[in-house]
Amino acid sequence: MSIEIPPGLTELLQGYTVEVLRHRPPDLLDFAVEYFCRLRDAREREPRGEARAKGVNFDGEPMQTESNGEEGRAGGDEDDDEDEDFEPPVINRFNRRVSVCAEAFNPDEEDEDTEPRVVHPKTDEQRCRLQEACKDILLFKNLDQEQLSQVLDAMFERKVQPQEHVIDQGDDGDNFYVIERGLYDIFVARDGQTRCVGRYDNHGSFGELALMYNTPRAATIIATTEGALWGLDRVTFRRIILKNNAKKRKTYELFIESVPLLKSLEVSERMKIVDVIGEKTYRDGERIISQGDKADSFYIVESGEVKILIKSKTVTGKDANQEVEIARCQKGQYFGELALVTNKPRAASAYAVGEVKCLVMDIQAFERLLGPCMDIMKRNITHYEEQLVALFGSSMDLTNPGN
Ligand code: CMP
Ligand code: CMP
Repeated sequence: MSIEIPPGLTELLQGYTVEVLRHRPPDLLDFAVEYFCRLRDAREREPRGEARAKGVNFDGEPMQTESNGEEGRAGGDEDDDEDEDFEPPVINRFNRRVSVCAEAFNPDEEDEDTEPRVVHPKTDEQRCRLQEACKDILLFKNLDQEQLSQVLDAMFERKVQPQEHVIDQGDDGDNFYVIERGLYDIFVARDGQTRCVGRYDNHGSFGELALMYNTPRAATIIATTEGALWGLDRVTFRRIILKNNAKKRKTYELFIESVPLLKSLEVSERMKIVDVIGEKTYRDGERIISQGDKADSFYIVESGEVKILIKSKTVTGKDANQEVEIARCQKGQYFGELALVTNKPRAASAYAVGEVKCLVMDIQAFERLLGPCMDIMKRNITHYEEQLVALFGSSMDLTNPGN
């Protein structure tokens, strides 16, 4: 069912919320009666409906509009100097949206100035934990400093209990979540069958799809341990992450088209990849992945060169710790797929040669979006073994990379 939000409703309620936060009245209902009566009186004085669009402040005057003349803006947020006494509304994180169907997916058309900023105050200790949890979140990688700090300001802490459903498939999307700790199973129901398709293990993020594409939740996420999450409300997510994604699409469109692995995908499928990837930069010699580690990401070289080194008794004969170079990956090539496909630890290590930029995708997105490329990847994996035999003259068991 789709519920249409009447034009002006959001602005009306925002105006009221702003005044509540300014005045902190003891009785919200009495305050509402007075606020909306004043608003109606102001409208009668200003026949073109300007008062309704602007709201009223509690000195009885219509609220100031911004110098650019925009209407319908309950609380300006771009120019802090003009808004020194404006306290941004704190949106209740437990309020679920009724429906998302009225909104279209077009970040370019979303006016970032029409929504007041969401700020959840945090202690220093909370901020530290939040920064730690967010430092590897791919969706945040391409944000500038200002965007990132707005995102962090808007995030709120949510503790979860074992068996708690954080997200239910089919629901409307309210928040995006970053994991601070805990295990979370991912279930997808399809054709009358529900399957566990994966698990988040103490890091990562989920809940971006419904917010990005205005679709119902595509999976159910259930905590299997006690855990802690950081939530980001839908409005802030769309205002910042979607705007940034539109920019990312422009930046990476040509490069992604040129990646041989992705050639068989439709343009829309390639753009979905761009939406969830994050760019990471590595210094010369920096280790990107480490043999034997648990794997959770897939990499495409955007610029520079990556060398793949393997250490194994089988290869070196005696010294198990000595690493031997087995391959190089150039711009447009990928690595880190083997462990994701075989569900085994990393078979080799990868190091940056010079400064390297990689586009990185998490395992959930890899499984969801790169299914059509799996045949190509598997074909290449069969070459790894041949390549190792050719290089070292003995067969290696790539399914047991800890050797
Ligand atoms: P969303 O659809 O908003 O809510 C459920 C989330 O589960 C989804 O966003 C993704 O972040 C996450 N997820 C992880 N694996 C899958 C999968 N295979 N299919 C769909 N969603 C998934
Ligand atoms: P993964 O095992 O996830 O991490 C190390 C990566 O090195 C591996 O995936 C492959 O992408 C890459 N690689 C390149 N050549 C080889 C090879 N001959 N054997 C194993 N891994 C290789």
